Amino acid sequence: MEIVVSGIRPTGNLHLGNYFGAMQNFVKMQETNQCFFFIADYHSLTTHPTPADLHGNVKQVLVEYLACGLDPEKATLYLQSDLPETAELYLFLNMNAYTGELERCTSFKDKVRSQPDNVNAGLLTYPTLMAADIILHKAHKVPVGKDQEQHLEMTRTFANRFNRMYKVDYFPEPVAYNFGEQLIKIPGLDGSTKMGKSEGEGNAIFLFDTPEVIRKKVMRAVTDSGPTEPNQPKPQAIENLFNLMKALSAPETVQFFDEQYNQCAIRYGDLKKQLAEDVIKFTTPFRERILDLLGNDEYLHKVVTLGREKAHASASKTIKEVREIIGFKHF
Ligand code: TYM
Repeated sequence: MEIVVSGIRPTGNLHLGNYFGAMQNFVKMQETNQCFFFIADYHSLTTHPTPADLHGNVKQVLVEYLACGLDPEKATLYLQSDLPETAELYLFLNMNAYTGELERCTSFKDKVRSQPDNVNAGLLTYPTLMAADIILHKAHKVPVGKDQEQHLEMTRTFANRFNRMYKVDYFPEPVAYNFGEQLIKIPGLDGSTKMGKSEGEGNAIFLFDTPEVIRKKVMRAVTDSGPTEPNQPKPQAIENLFNLMKALSAPETVQFFDEQYNQCAIRYGDLKKQLAEDVIKFTTPFRERILDLLGNDEYLHKVVTLGREKAHASASKTIKEVREIIGFKHF
């Protein structure tokens, strides 16, 4: 049975990018693999949340994991910070990660540009923490969106380097995985190519958004004055709306608006109205389950306790073996 590991940072509610890029694969993978899905709360410290925000966000994402259909009996659902073994492996990996390669990582360079006042060491070593999460359970497959591709490449580098350095064949080479084969990138509503939590107001649609908020966000999505000649390629912002439609509307709907576009007859207002209603139809069942679960602290406690036990069994075995490989031996 293959081992699957993945996580999501608790920095807000899950959006459609998280769902289509990662979560929908988590839900499918739990049926036939040994899965470890965690909430990356250590990772979220790079943005310095207050204790109250951190806890609230962790609870929200836990509830959303369950609302999306993750089953704590089938998969291991746990909090990253419940496994201090993660931090220990992170320390070991940091000893063999070079500042040059960490500085060249695209996500680090983006952060240096976007938040020059908070370029902390946690950001620089983000890929080693992520590698620790993954190889702690000796994962083979990691369901993620396209933005995580480079992090997976670095994970393979660190795992191979450990094997070479200690002349062992211990860690497998994990690969980024998507059921549809190609890794996905869901676009934002603001014309940018990525839906994201930190990309600004109105860019992302969250599973927990109310129908009113969804209508407002979609109606405000960036468009242009429309095509002036038939069968022209679509500008980015328009392509984005079509891509969102492809993810969650019926194929006939996409085909209808595509034809309208190609004939220069498209009315973006109609497209957006349809898209908003399709999004609402898609997200409403999630929203209802989220609301149900938010009040059920007793159940959440059970889920986290079970997850911690199962995750600990796997992690403590790896750490024990890694310590021996490195040469930490009992006297
Ligand atoms: P995070 O929290 O930014 O995103 C969680 C998952 O959602 C995917 N995703 C998207 N997919 C498609 N289109 C989008 N617009 C989009 N936005 C986000 C991400 O690719 C990701 O799969 N570093 C990770 C969390 C993490 C992790 C790990 C993942 C920590 N350790 C170990 C896998 C394995 C992150 O920040 O994801």
